[in-house]
Amino acid sequence: MKRALRSRALPAVALCLSFLACGADSSVPAGTGGAVASAAPRATAAGIEMLEAGGNAVDAAVATALVLAVVHPNAGNLGGGGFAVIRMGDEVEALDFRETAPAAARAEMYLDENGEAVPDRSLIGPLAAGVPGSPHGYFELHRRYGTLPWEQVVNPAVRAARDGFVVTDRLAGALEENADLLARFEATAAVWLPGGNSQGTGSTVRIPALAESLLAYADQGPVALMEGSIAEAIVEASERHGGILSLEDLADYRPVWRRPIRFQTFGWEVASMPLPSSGGIILGQTCGMLERLDWAARPREGADRAHLLAEVWRRSYADRYLLGDPSTSQATAEDLLSPEWLDQRAAEIDSERATPSDEILPWSGPPTESDQTTHLSVVDAEGNAVALTTTLNGSFGCGLLVPEAGFLLNNEMDDFAVQPGRPNQFGLVQGSANAVGPGKRMLSSMTPTVAWRDGEIMALGAPGGSRIPTGTAQVFLNVIVDDDGLQSAVDRPRVHHQWRPDAIWAEADALTPEARQELIRRGHDIRKRYAVGLVQIAMRTADGLCRSVADRRGPGSAAVYSPAKEMKQ
Ligand code: GLY
Repeated sequence: MKRALRSRALPAVALCLSFLACGADSSVPAGTGGAVASAAPRATAAGIEMLEAGGNAVDAAVATALVLAVVHPNAGNLGGGGFAVIRMGDEVEALDFRETAPAAARAEMYLDENGEAVPDRSLIGPLAAGVPGSPHGYFELHRRYGTLPWEQVVNPAVRAARDGFVVTDRLAGALEENADLLARFEATAAVWLPGGNSQGTGSTVRIPALAESLLAYADQGPVALMEGSIAEAIVEASERHGGILSLEDLADYRPVWRRPIRFQTFGWEVASMPLPSSGGIILGQTCGMLERLDWAARPREGADRAHLLAEVWRRSYADRYLLGDPSTSQATAEDLLSPEWLDQRAAEIDSERATPSDEILPWSGPPTESDQTTHLSVVDAEGNAVALTTTLNGSFGCGLLVPEAGFLLNNEMDDFAVQPGRPNQFGLVQGSANAVGPGKRMLSSMTPTVAWRDGEIMALGAPGGSRIPTGTAQVFLNVIVDDDGLQSAVDRPRVHHQWRPDAIWAEADALTPEARQELIRRGHDIRKRYAVGLVQIAMRTADGLCRSVADRRGPGSAAVYSPAKEMKQ
């Protein structure tokens, strides 16, 4: 199988950032050797380096993810988890490397004596940390589908951690914004707030402990981090700060290959992430209901499309209340994506009036939000595609960096319904299906997605907490329904609704003044939102040209690759 998927050996090569543009995407560079989009230029360059070396989309995706674990510490990680959806040759797969709750995890740990959630307990410090899935996840992805030697794929991350990388404006801003969290833990502050000041723009950061961890990982794979001295250091740091991670938790962790959510929509074949992520189900429901509601015929400007999106999503996110780890979920993808259910949900929608969310499923409460996850998309010359989303959950996770390991631990436990019915940091209200339980995987919204049609293929997804499925869906619809080029598909302002709070969140310019008035008339509350996800997309068209776009709302970076001889064309 590996042999069949191996990228063909490439002749003399060069990174090409600005040629072969054509068609609706004339502003977007194209190349025949592949394309990568991620949240950081150095990470994207690592992906391109793998393509140049003859690697395939998986080699490129894993190298990109590992560099993000160094240069994008607010979300890239070895101490977190994530999901990947891939199409390699004819194989379509989903890898779940989501964190698991430690064996000692109990819901009561996050509650006070009155049964009320103590907010910081599931967000700050190692009690908030799930068992990291990324070390096994990246390795497993490469073990099954990669073609380059593992050490070569890890090498760009080793170089970044060992030789140093330059702090960007965005990272400097994130460090400053999160200085209080980072200052709580001595080892974290030593790396990210040296001398009490956050690393500023242009400074060079080296993280020798992380470089050593990565070298060991390159040599031995995940056991280097999940067993032995680094695992002991993780457990020791966790215990010292009130956490419950054990050596058994780390040694027992395994990623899971899952059957992706599959559906057809607007002539495209789609694969997206199944439980424990709600992302693929929400995307499938969105497309399924919109097809029933004559989406393609509605004008792009005006109130109709925003109204339909809001009505579809308030129902999808109410259905999300029933979802959780596959072992305890109270609904399945088959239930929520069945033609009968989609017919019923679509038929409930009144095209002239907003349905109050209470009429769908009652609840109310205040939202808070955070964005810190990261997504990367890759396509290669063979038409393979990888969509990979990974996270620490909150920015810089739980804030605790394990000194001997050089990386931060996540705060993914907050993605459980710590107190069912109470909103989490994304304002998401979740049910008992997603209650804390030992060994369980917390419900996610991550939506790594691959879609294809007649020789075209794309990979896309986003960070953005609860806004991941809605941001991803809008870009996808812009491409497949409205034939937007990738840049305009991503640039186009977006809206969001998540059932609770009962409001449309709109980016600036997402609604004309007339559309806004009309939506208010139909009964919608409208609030401002800076970014509905940061979508990274890569696509290979039937003519063999690969393009990628990183969302300009965030710190992203996109690049393409072509063999050098083709640059002369
Ligand atoms: N931590 C955000 C998510 O998984 O949806």
